[in-house]
Amino acid sequence: VISLSVPLADRSYPVLVGSGAVRTLASVMPTRAKRAAIVTQAGIGVDVDPGIEHRVFTIGDGEEVKTLSTISDLCRAFASWGMTRADAVVGVGGGLVTDVAGFAAASYHRGIPVVHVATSLLAMVDAAIGGKTGVNLPEGKNLVGAFWQPSAVLCDLDALATLPARELACGRGEMAKYHFLTGDDLLALPLDQRIARCIKIKADVVGADEREAVGSTGGRALLNYGHTLAHALEIVTDHELRHGEAVAIGLLFAARVAHAMDRVSAERVAEHDAVVASYDLRSSLPEGLSADRALALMMRDKKAIDSLTFILDGPNGLEQVPGIDADLVRRVLVDFGATA
Ligand SMILES: NC(=O)c1ccc[n+]([C@@H]2O[C@H](COP(=O)([O-])OP(=O)(O)OC[C@H]3O[C@@H](n4cnc5c(N)ncnc54)[C@H](O)[C@@H]3O)[C@@H](O)[C@H]2O)c1
Ligand SMILES: [Zn+2]
Repeated sequence: VISLSVPLADRSYPVLVGSGAVRTLASVMPTRAKRAAIVTQAGIGVDVDPGIEHRVFTIGDGEEVKTLSTISDLCRAFASWGMTRADAVVGVGGGLVTDVAGFAAASYHRGIPVVHVATSLLAMVDAAIGGKTGVNLPEGKNLVGAFWQPSAVLCDLDALATLPARELACGRGEMAKYHFLTGDDLLALPLDQRIARCIKIKADVVGADEREAVGSTGGRALLNYGHTLAHALEIVTDHELRHGEAVAIGLLFAARVAHAMDRVSAERVAEHDAVVASYDLRSSLPEGLSADRALALMMRDKKAIDSLTFILDGPNGLEQVPGIDADLVRRVLVDFGATA
């Protein structure tokens, strides 16, 4: 088991990655915790033993259950069990469970400790790390939440054996992104070390910019590499294209925008193609995507009139680049296969 740390001074916490990591749960529980509320889903099937009295609280599956009413149900169940500030929450699941369990822990009694047992690849390399928790509103995703760092995160690679293939692909999409956040060749590493490396990259970014400082253009914002187009693709396809899959295409597109702006060479674009291909992810835009529709979605809620902001690769690595001409972006979209 590989041991990492999210560096946050007195709130630093361990992340353990490897086969069998879940068996260390009792040893990473907050020392003063008397009882543990295990929050999970029916389909997860990962047995955990926090080493103290515990009870299992099952939530539903799918983004529709990521709501304030689920938080209310959970907190009421915690209260019925008589949970106090001396108790703790353990979230066992993918990103949906860790977001919900984390937010319930952040809110119950104004905040009790939480430990995450990440069971999806996406939760391991992204959602369970960094302390963002929350739920959706009808008005938008993740609109209500809190920063609430866990006391520990366990990433047991054995859990991935039961993860559906499509969910694995989503995790690989985020992993592809991490290749471009540092200069390292992550593909050269064995899987456990590669997952650990992705976590380390996110952990260091979070350590430097815990709460995504408003107006900050480095730090956590760079974790959104590939996400500008990805969000538009998720909406255009009515979420048929899943987040991680859309991110992979978004990375290829961002590389092409950077190339069109003379920020990177054709070889660097080819490197993006090679990384996404090696993760066995779709590399083309959805059939018949309208360039104007994609452009409009990318400009929405950004208050941009005729320019866009992207995270782009360049001579100094990734940077947030504002003021990109919409016509250039439209041209690159059409070259990439969108309809004019
Ligand atoms: N907090 C953050 O920083 C952050 C970052 C990225 C994503 N997220 C959130 O994470 C969520 C997506 O996470 P996800 O991709 O893990 O999806 P998910 O949690 O919905 O899990 C996907 C499916 O896989 C199942 N599953 C999970 N682990 C399994 C296992 N080991 N075996 C069998 N089935 C398993 C789940 O029950 C679910 O049906 C979104 O709500 C997103 O907003 C949060
Ligand atoms: Zn993402």
